[in-house]
Amino acid sequence: MQLQIGDKAPNFVAYTTQGLINFHDWMEDSWAMFFSHPGDFTPVCTTELGRTAQLELELSLRNVKALGLSTDSVDEHLAWIDDINESQHTDFFVPMITGPDGVLADLYGMINYSENRTTASRQLYIVDESKRIRFAVAYPASVGRNFCEILRVIDALRLTDRSPLVTPADWQPGEPAVISPALDDQDAAIVFKQGWNEVLPYLRYVDTDITCQPCQKKVAITDPEAIS
Ligand code: BEZ
Repeated sequence: MQLQIGDKAPNFVAYTTQGLINFHDWMEDSWAMFFSHPGDFTPVCTTELGRTAQLELELSLRNVKALGLSTDSVDEHLAWIDDINESQHTDFFVPMITGPDGVLADLYGMINYSENRTTASRQLYIVDESKRIRFAVAYPASVGRNFCEILRVIDALRLTDRSPLVTPADWQPGEPAVISPALDDQDAAIVFKQGWNEVLPYLRYVDTDITCQPCQKKVAITDPEAIS
């Protein structure tokens, strides 16, 4: 059965390019971006892993640790990292799990039996510090992930975790968010003393204080001072 948002992320022990890890212990008090890719030495995956390495600062500013998985061996992962670093101009830091038997990939729904029965799919989970799955997304093998979108979702979760807000379609950090429908106007007035822009009785916009910049293609632009 597919893991869903809100489920406990199952713990596991696995061999990685950085040794044996216990997933929950490895996370410590961080969040995790746990993702699978179909195969080492393939073009889309090379760009994706390079992109993840380019976003090391963005991930660490958000207290998110990245962890990859494919059914390739550790030796293959290690040899491929040279290609990633050379072609994507990176210093690759992400531990990559080897899961040749597919058992762990299966546990996390990372094998798409309709698409390909032998290799992992492009599945990605965001897991919070309480080890709950907060976001899950699957991409087709032929389409590389949009990591700016994943950072945007993490920023939205951080905002909505710390205040009774929800984020509208296409929201970007710094843009107005919407007061949670769980708050009636009376309660909203206590929290949002500055008031709100009421488009509909249930669509009430407020300015947000999140100061990090939207992620941009190829460059990481968040000012480390600006994000808390
Ligand atoms: C790729 O990463 O380029 C790829 C991997 C598996 C199938 C198709 C593309």
